[in-house]
Amino acid sequence: TPPALTDSFGRAVTYLRLSLTDRCDLRCTYCMAENMVFLPKRDLLSIEDLARLSDLFIRRGVRKLRLTGGEPLVRKGVMDLLADLSRHLTSGALDELTLTTNGTQLARYADELAKNGVRRVNVSLDTLDPARYRQITRLGTLDKVLTGLDAAHSAGLKIKLNAIASRGAFEHELDDMIRFAHGRGMDLTLIEEMPMGETGQNRADTLLPLDVLEASLANRWTLSPVAHSTGGPARYLRIAETGGRLGLISPMSCNFCALCNRVRLSATGRLYTCMGQEGSVDLRPALGAGEQALDALLRQAISAKPKGHDFDTRTVCRPSVKRFMSALGG
Ligand code: GTP
Ligand code: 5AD
Ligand code: SF4
Repeated sequence: TPPALTDSFGRAVTYLRLSLTDRCDLRCTYCMAENMVFLPKRDLLSIEDLARLSDLFIRRGVRKLRLTGGEPLVRKGVMDLLADLSRHLTSGALDELTLTTNGTQLARYADELAKNGVRRVNVSLDTLDPARYRQITRLGTLDKVLTGLDAAHSAGLKIKLNAIASRGAFEHELDDMIRFAHGRGMDLTLIEEMPMGETGQNRADTLLPLDVLEASLANRWTLSPVAHSTGGPARYLRIAETGGRLGLISPMSCNFCALCNRVRLSATGRLYTCMGQEGSVDLRPALGAGEQALDALLRQAISAKPKGHDFDTRTVCRPSVKRFMSALGG
């Protein structure tokens, strides 16, 4: 077997995030601009190429694969891809095959996901208020996601909710979100908004540092750190009153890049070795050139993985990278 993928800081790449499409049926305000021009579908990697590239990474030590988007469940062929990739679970090469979704299609797909080896999904949900949900997602209907969550639950999938922390209404709703998630056996993870793409909103107005939020939560809930690891960037707290887990993802207030184990592949075949940097390497031209050429390109890209992001964590007024979060799905 080929040697593992390690960057110049000694960080091993064990987690691949595969973006299947830049499209989404929602237009969340922190993730996209109001008017988006999506890529022509002919520019996307085929399902076969996605499977082949995944194989290549898995043979080089990747143990966790997450499908993202845009919204991964709007990509045609997503179930074929999962069916193909699930053999790596059976063989023991992969620890986890999962996806991050907005949940709108879960009612339709939950059973199929479970059948294809998915055990756990991360679902983006920032509010339980239907009007606020519409406001944040611009196009979404809260009920659809709630129905989707029920379907995922019935299919036996574990669920983690992702919520972007923001100042104002979110803070007032957070206790209800905690009760909602934990009451249904779901984890809840809070995320600091990262300045990616010109969304037309000033992120400095809404950024809520999670260390500040944690201090205020500690006035109402009994929090204790838990040693739980999903292989992602979250640190976890246990809430004694609910018995549930609260994850915190704090790229802005507490940089976790030193422990980074991740790379991302865009829907068009570009490898991004850091989400918070502009740079990427196009793997597509090497797809026809055989495994050796691809391997060389991969290693070159990974050895140049940046030390960490360059997000402007002080003023946050302007995007630190031009790309929208939707281009790689986080
Ligand atoms: P788990 O498997 O549950 O740990 O998931 P995850 O946190 O790895 O993935 P998810 O798609 O749920 O990501 C949640 C948030 O964390 C998203 O907003 C991502 O953009 C962010 N995130 C994940 N990985 C990184 C990273 O390497 N750097 C930064 N800055 N943010 C990340
Ligand atoms: N900063 C942080 N997280 C974001 N997400 C989308 N845009 C941003 C942003 N600007 C989150 C979504 C989803 C995850 C994949 O990325 O809420 O849960
Ligand atoms: Fe890794 Fe870059 Fe994310 Fe830091 S910002 S954790 S280096 S992907």
